Amino acid sequence: MTDVAAKDSLTVTDNRTGQQYDIAINDNTIAATDLGQIRLTDDEPGLATYDPGFVNTASCRSAVTFIDGDKGILEYRGYPIEQLAEKSNFLEVAYLLVHGALPSKEEYDAWVHEITYHTFVHENVKGFMHGFRYDAHPMGMLMASVGALSTFYPDARNISDADNRHMQIVRMIAKMPTLGAWSFRHAQGKPFVYPDNDLGYTANFLSMLFKMSEQKFEADPRLVKALDVLFILHADHEQNCSTNAVRSVGSSQVDPYSAVAAGVGALYGPLHGGANEAVLRMLKRIGSKENIPAFIEGVKDGNERLMGFGHRVYKNFDPRATIIKKACDDVFEVTGVNPLLEIAKELEKIALEDEYFVKRKLYPNVDFYSGLIYEAFQFPPEMFTVLFAIGRTPGWLAQWAELVQDKDQKIARPKQIYTGDRELTFTAASERWK
Ligand code: CMC
Repeated sequence: MTDVAAKDSLTVTDNRTGQQYDIAINDNTIAATDLGQIRLTDDEPGLATYDPGFVNTASCRSAVTFIDGDKGILEYRGYPIEQLAEKSNFLEVAYLLVHGALPSKEEYDAWVHEITYHTFVHENVKGFMHGFRYDAHPMGMLMASVGALSTFYPDARNISDADNRHMQIVRMIAKMPTLGAWSFRHAQGKPFVYPDNDLGYTANFLSMLFKMSEQKFEADPRLVKALDVLFILHADHEQNCSTNAVRSVGSSQVDPYSAVAAGVGALYGPLHGGANEAVLRMLKRIGSKENIPAFIEGVKDGNERLMGFGHRVYKNFDPRATIIKKACDDVFEVTGVNPLLEIAKELEKIALEDEYFVKRKLYPNVDFYSGLIYEAFQFPPEMFTVLFAIGRTPGWLAQWAELVQDKDQKIARPKQIYTGDRELTFTAASERWK
């Protein structure tokens, strides 16, 4: 121990040995490896931290997204989500996330052009998409097809080359709507629709989803705008489960398609992006306002969770939920009100006044209302998380690019606390089963 501990440090005493240690504090964190010096004897492993789910562990330094969960603040590259949702568009936000700054007019035009002209996928993609069962979940199809893109672009393995990284980022943002739309069409037994490069990103996606025999499919601009806003709201959310999956898999230096496929897999789960699908199913199951009190009692008894409520980081409100609630009005103006909205609003009201939810700081999250909008678009619930994945792609890629350029990063490899048996003596099956 030094005589005078530096101000930005932590002095800890190991009561097992009486030894004191000074550990530097940087950015309100201590380096976990610094705890390694705290040990009982020289030949024993040093102290480690135990943190299932990374509840209080920073895994990286990142300049992509800032969240203050207590204040309900979300910023991409420093810009508040409310301003981006109101004044920007998804491709500009994608540029911002990936490049770290807003584009000039020339940069923006070049970016839109690049993305637009990479929306087509190799014809063989159609072939393997047809191979899925008629009732395949579109998230499973998306996960598999994003991973399969790595076989079409073997050059993507060259992750240390900046131009190469850029190429894969463009390809993935561009092709995600095509893959998402085709997984939807497959489930419907409808022919795949090729991208229409005269349309903007989100309008083109809607065309690939819903176009039938008409020459051109042009969605209502209010719906295009609402979906574009939803993509913006989902574009990044710092070190959430799927981004952590992308980073963790990416830390092995695999190509970005494989890393993003891992992110799609993580997003699929009901505690993450799959929650919007679960919310819709929950609202349908509740069926009418009279059934809400009994449902809430079941949640409080621990029978199930109120899906679309609660967040690891937001403990006051989820700013995305506030914006989505407003977007609901814009969409329902075009489509007519979703009758489940009444149940959702009443459920929210009752939960927000209930001691159980208040005490645990459980508020509606991004998924509580987004499913209602998606349903108004006539998406089946299985498609909801696909929409989330399309929105999240620029964020995954911005985080992946940051990871591969970060000199501090290593292959992800957490420690464990081993709880199993040791040093047993093996007896061959022929002996044990006599
Ligand atoms: N309904 C009922 N109780 C809940 C809920 C909920 N939705 N969420 C948390 N709790 C309770 C939980 O039972 C626990 O109670 P107790 O202290 O008595 O054991 C307490 O609140 C803390 O919960 P936790 O599970 O320790 O919190 P977490 O930070 O690990 O989990 C969460 C966060 C989002 C997974 C969780 O709130 C949840 O399961 N919510 C429902 C699923 C959902 O809406 N997910 C979407 C998240 S936002 C979009 C995204 O990330 O994809």
